[in-house]
Amino acid sequence: MTEVTRFTHGSRIPGWDDAVDPDKAPAPVPDAATTPVPAELRQEIEAEMAKYPVSRSALIPALHAAQRVHGWCSPEAIEQVATVMGITPGEVAAVATFYDMFETKPVGRQTIYVCTNISCSLRGGDKILAAMKAAAEGDADFNIRGFECLGACDMAPMASVNGDFVGPLEPADCAQIVSDLKGGLEVIPSKQLRARPCADPAGNVAVTSNEGGQS
Ligand code: FES
Repeated sequence: MTEVTRFTHGSRIPGWDDAVDPDKAPAPVPDAATTPVPAELRQEIEAEMAKYPVSRSALIPALHAAQRVHGWCSPEAIEQVATVMGITPGEVAAVATFYDMFETKPVGRQTIYVCTNISCSLRGGDKILAAMKAAAEGDADFNIRGFECLGACDMAPMASVNGDFVGPLEPADCAQIVSDLKGGLEVIPSKQLRARPCADPAGNVAVTSNEGGQS
């Protein structure tokens, strides 16, 4: 059995013990007149806010939208979300730093989360993670991380590839996934969750989308 890799602070999760500065004054709500926000991002955030009785409830989808635009939850992205939502950057940052699927440091655009939680780990998830990292080694366009249970244990060992769930994976699939992404191709369609028949007894209709990889 492979020993689970841990960071020096003992957790499998990086960064949870990053230091904060309690003496730093909180930033106010940004001034909308002096904080430019891309028009499409503003519209998307406002559309999300309109779905909730309390507009701040749209913070998670708003951060997803900003992360898509900026590639990560940069200080600029956080400022823009705060501006549109009329809340402080601190409130936005608190959510961005809590959820694992928000990137608070620059990362590659190709995001692969390899599940190394219990079901996937028992079926070789750690080997899949190592093979995936080896396949993309040296390419800064790839953001590959081990991840806790992605809720698709029935397809273990699996990964979320830019939000698409793929599995069960063999180590040899990893080079194929990386190569497909580099070529702009759909990754291993036969192993995608979206290609599986749904459980609807009336229809055997393929699942057309999933929210895999989204907080
Ligand atoms: S343990 Fe991997 S999806 Fe649940």
